[in-house]
Amino acid sequence: MTYIDPNISRRWHRLVLGAAVLGISALLTGTSAGAASVDKAPFGKTQDGKAVDLYTLTNDKGASVKFIAYGGIITAINVPDRWGKLDNIVLGFKELADYESKNPYFGALIGRYGNRIGGAKFTLDGTQYQLAANNGPNSLHGGSKGFDKAVWAVEPLTNVSGAAARLSYTSKDGEEGYPGTLTVQVVYTLTNDNELRIDYEATTDKPTVVNLTSHSYFNLAGDGAGGIGDHILTINADRYTPVDATLIPTGELASVTGTPFDFRQGMPIGARIRSNDPQMVYGRGYDHNYVLNRSDSGLSLAARVYEPRSGRIMEISTTEPGVQFYSGNFLDSTLVGPTGQQYRQTDGFCLETQHFPDSPNKSSFPTTVLKPGETLKSTTIHKFSTDAS
Ligand code: GLA
Repeated sequence: MTYIDPNISRRWHRLVLGAAVLGISALLTGTSAGAASVDKAPFGKTQDGKAVDLYTLTNDKGASVKFIAYGGIITAINVPDRWGKLDNIVLGFKELADYESKNPYFGALIGRYGNRIGGAKFTLDGTQYQLAANNGPNSLHGGSKGFDKAVWAVEPLTNVSGAAARLSYTSKDGEEGYPGTLTVQVVYTLTNDNELRIDYEATTDKPTVVNLTSHSYFNLAGDGAGGIGDHILTINADRYTPVDATLIPTGELASVTGTPFDFRQGMPIGARIRSNDPQMVYGRGYDHNYVLNRSDSGLSLAARVYEPRSGRIMEISTTEPGVQFYSGNFLDSTLVGPTGQQYRQTDGFCLETQHFPDSPNKSSFPTTVLKPGETLKSTTIHKFSTDAS
């Protein structure tokens, strides 16, 4: 049974929506749209006894994003199809225990370093740092206890056109082998235009490396609707970063022309996924970083995905230089979703906006070094619409 603390719920409604803005826009448009809100309810306790809440951001269109304080994990994104029917379009679990024990990063905030660092080590200012090798010889997604396994502090935000919450986490100096105390804030905003906006900020007290991302597995036909092979994907990238057999970039920025990696014109994800291109064999499908085309460092379009049956469209814009396209290759039917569905290979896909994998060991890649006095700022927007809107 879901319990919503009425006091908190009321207070947050007032805070978030009090939003004269919303009232005025409703008056102007003559709509009686539901007010945006932030609600919270208990979700369970971690194995070491920490209470974890589930938060629901609802916008004035009735779309919602649910996330838990554990790992900042987005457990559901409910958006309309072309007939206006809301469905959850991300993979997840029913129970906190599943997120704790077997999550392949469903919906999680990833840090301190998203994707892989080769040989689980890097050198910064002459000192070598040893990380946990949790993915063959490499370190993946921040090590054995990355940000996806931390319980984040959560607070609702005011003055937004929609519903929002700020998540905060302080990673200690030396945590998972990384230098410097890293103070991280992430804001999830569900705008009244059906955009999920993720703003990241981080500061450090010693030079360190940082690469933050969000790891939702999408299925725009609806969670549990089967494979994602028919989704039409466009990626705004002329180049990608080929990898070795352990999925570490070779350092080359290769052209996508004439390869299964060319998504500059929309293509079904499944069309070339069985290619015997060695790159596809290494990743068992797509598990590659794309070098985004961009003219400046602002928000620019990274990818667009269209699902023909539901008519849903997702457009991702980012300030990051890259996006990891992962076609859910390691899902193997052993995980079961919230409504009892088995997750098979390619039942979900990820588009993780990021700096390139292994940047700390690749001086030619855009730097991921963060120094004291600097503030890392990064934004990614997922805009949801349909072919009827
Ligand atoms: C990232 C990696 C993949 C895989 C998934 C999680 O996308 O690049 O290789 O590890 O995370 O399973």
